[in-house]
Amino acid sequence: MTYPEWSPSSWRSHPAAQQPEWPDERELKEALNALRALPPLVFAGEARSLKTALARAGRGDAFVLQAGDCAEAFGNFSADSIRDKLKIILQMAVVLTYASGLPVIKVGRIAGQFAKPRSTPNEAVDGRELPSFRGHAVNDAAFDEISRRADPGRLVRAYHQSAATLNLIRAFTKGGFADLRQIHVWNQEFVAASSQGRRYEAMAAQIDGAMRFMAACGVNLEADSTLHEVDLFVSHEALLLEYEEALTRRDSLSDEWYCCSAHMLWVGERTRQPDGAHVEFLAGVRNPIACKVGPIATVDELTTLCERLNPDNEPGRLTFISRMGVGAIEEALPPLLAGVKASGHDVVWICDPMHANTFVTGSGLKTRRFGDILGEIKAFFAVNHQEGTVPGGVHLELTDEDVTECLGGGDDILDDEHLRERYRALCDPRLNATQSLDLAFDVGEMLQTG
Ligand code: PEP
Ligand code: CO
Repeated sequence: MTYPEWSPSSWRSHPAAQQPEWPDERELKEALNALRALPPLVFAGEARSLKTALARAGRGDAFVLQAGDCAEAFGNFSADSIRDKLKIILQMAVVLTYASGLPVIKVGRIAGQFAKPRSTPNEAVDGRELPSFRGHAVNDAAFDEISRRADPGRLVRAYHQSAATLNLIRAFTKGGFADLRQIHVWNQEFVAASSQGRRYEAMAAQIDGAMRFMAACGVNLEADSTLHEVDLFVSHEALLLEYEEALTRRDSLSDEWYCCSAHMLWVGERTRQPDGAHVEFLAGVRNPIACKVGPIATVDELTTLCERLNPDNEPGRLTFISRMGVGAIEEALPPLLAGVKASGHDVVWICDPMHANTFVTGSGLKTRRFGDILGEIKAFFAVNHQEGTVPGGVHLELTDEDVTECLGGGDDILDDEHLRERYRALCDPRLNATQSLDLAFDVGEMLQTG
C-alpha cells in the first residue's frame, strides 16, 4: 500500500503536541538544512531485519529487551560509558536467553534518546517561571534562562553524538566484545560482588561448560558468527518531528521512506493522538514502530492506530508498549489485548513497567519501587496468558551505573536518604546494573514457567 498524501513533511498540517518553541526561526532552518545534508544513521535494510525479528516476538518465538536511559545526556558520553551500557544489556540478554531458550532481540534506548515530553510547557521554581527541560536535543536542565532556551544547534549535536555512539556500538557488537566467550567480562566489578553477580557467574560457568562440550563433540564454534557477534538495534521516541523529518530518506532498494535516525521509533503516551502529527509522520515511514499504551487507552483508539500505522497488517511493523501501572494493569490491559486480537490486527505487545509506577518521595525525589516494576511485568505475563496473547518483551529504563534512583531490588535501596547517595537521573529514575540483573533473572523465570 502506498500513502498518496503522505510525505516526510505532511505531519506539518496536523496538530503537533509537545514541540518546543524555537525562539530563532533562522537558526532552526540552518540546523535542519545541516541535518538534511548529513548521512543517514541507520540503513533501511537494518530496520527491515528488526521488523522481521519483531514479527517473531509477536508469535512467541523471540523476546524483546528494549532498554536504556530515560534521557541520554550530552555530558555523560564516553567510550567507557557506551561499553558499560552494552555490558548490562548483554548480561540481561544472556540471562533471558539461557532461561527461556528464546532468542532475545536487543533494542537500546540509545543513540538518539535526547528529547522528552513534559507535563507542562513551563516550570516554576520559587515563583520564577521558565520553559521546561525537554531533553538535551532542545535545552539544558539547569534552571536559568540561557540553559532553558531552545537551541536548534543542539539538534545537530544530538545527531553527532548519536553517530559516534552508534559507531562504537557497531564496533563493540561486531568486533569481539559481544563474543559469548567474553561473558565474564560483562559482569562489572560492583555487580560481580552482589548475589545477582554471583548467580550470573554460576550461569556463565555453565555456558562455558556447554561450549566446551560442543567443541569437544566437534562443533566448530570458531566458524559460527552468531556466537561472536550480536545485533543491538537502536530506538528513541520520535518526538521532535523537525529532526525526524530531516533524517527521513528514500531507500534506494525499495524506493520507500525510512526514518534513518534509528532502527525503531515510538510515539509516546502524550503524542499518540490518531489525527495528530506524530502518528501522521510514523504512518509513512517503513521502520518498525511502536506506540505507548496507558490505562486511558480504548480499544477503538488502538484499532484506529492499527489501521493508521499498519494498514497492511504487516507482522513486526507495530508494537504496543503497555504502561499501565501495577495497580491498573489487571483491569485495564485485558480488554485491550482482547479487543485488538478480535479486530484481527497483528501487533507485538511488550511491557513498560516503569512509566506508570513513578512517584515522588516525601523529600521530592522522583522514584519507582523495584517491587512495583516486577509486579507489573508479572501481571503482564498473567493477563497475556489469560487472553491467549503473547507477552513479547519488556521496555525498561536502566543504566550500567551504580546509581540509587529506584527503591528495592538487589541493592535494597530502602529510603530517601539512600536514594540521595547516587541519584543522577536527568529525567526518570533508572534501575542500576544490579537491579537490572536481578530483574532479568526474575523475567527469565517467568519465561521459563511460560
Ligand atoms: C518515556 O518512555 O520516557 C516516556 C516519556 O514514556 P511515556 O510516553 O509512556 O510516558
Ligand atoms: Co522515562
